[in-house]
Amino acid sequence: MPLVFPFDPNIARASTIPARLYNDPVYLELERERVFAHSWQLVGRVDQVLETGQYFTAEIGNDAIVILRDGTSLRGFYNICLHRAGPVAYGCGKRQTLQCKYHGWTYTLDGTLLRAPEMEGVENFRPNEMHLIPVLVATWGPFVFANLDGKAPPLLEVLEDIPRRVAPFRCEEMRYVLRKEWDLACNWKVYVDNYLEGYHLPVVHPGLHKELDYDQYAVEPHRYFSIQHAPLRPVHGSTRNRRYDPNETDVAEAVYVWLFPNVMMNVYMGQMQTNVVLPLAHDRTKVIFEWFATDVPENPAADAKWSRLLEFSDEIQAEDIEICEVVQRNLRSRVYDRGRYSAARENGVHHFHSLLHEFLT
Ligand code: FES
Ligand SMILES: [Fe+2]
Repeated sequence: MPLVFPFDPNIARASTIPARLYNDPVYLELERERVFAHSWQLVGRVDQVLETGQYFTAEIGNDAIVILRDGTSLRGFYNICLHRAGPVAYGCGKRQTLQCKYHGWTYTLDGTLLRAPEMEGVENFRPNEMHLIPVLVATWGPFVFANLDGKAPPLLEVLEDIPRRVAPFRCEEMRYVLRKEWDLACNWKVYVDNYLEGYHLPVVHPGLHKELDYDQYAVEPHRYFSIQHAPLRPVHGSTRNRRYDPNETDVAEAVYVWLFPNVMMNVYMGQMQTNVVLPLAHDRTKVIFEWFATDVPENPAADAKWSRLLEFSDEIQAEDIEICEVVQRNLRSRVYDRGRYSAARENGVHHFHSLLHEFLT
């Protein structure tokens, strides 16, 4: 089976990508190298690394990394000791040096090897010339991004004018509220495909369909990202049965930003939710949601507004997970290989697949 696959840049002529891209583990290996290592990955928050020595660890595919604050510099390294690949950090915390949890080699915050016990007599061993392997780090608003292969275009270039477009929502002022995680039995691309269109709204999400103006729903593709505009339906009469009240907000729409390949940012009404989609295996995916808001309640779990919001989000997520897992099972069928796109509704999915095609082949 050839690894390359044909792809038509014209959506009206294109077929969707072949089912083997969702089923064959060989594509996940290729994606790890050519897509995930080569793009900006959302790995954490600036508020976790404000003071010198504060650090957090993260994983991008098979690669463990550590992000830390060293004075004015934010640094990132592979979390892999130069000795025999032990971890130089666990979890998160604050330390003035990084000490490997295996044989205790110690590194300064700039990654230089400071001490390696009992290495006397080893030839050509010069600790001060040995450094943890760096990864590129960049921030935007409250987010820390990392790029493994150091070859992604600068983050702000990739984001283009996203910062200006979400400015009315005041994302930069938002603070972290809470996090939720899901494990899904599907390929990561099934979840991303599903995210990138509003076409399934009427059938899969009847509750959400009542809130959003489906006719005005639009997807706007850019170079490395796309934006979905979902205006709230106008309220006629009472807002009692509405989850979102357009009168409560200056900007009566929800904006869904997707950054290739696996980051989503859903912004509406004084809050924002990020989704990070992480492949665990070719048919298993972890999805992490983090909420941010301008008004952060003491205890979100006990707050009536937040409980309602989380309950609605859980309902939509459950609907999406159910359909994604069935689709993954059907993609394994002996009869299905490729489908067609709705030119009116699936330009976001087609855009994702064309970027994937570009990065993979
Ligand atoms: S692996 Fe790190 S000190 Fe041995
Ligand atoms: Fe959905």
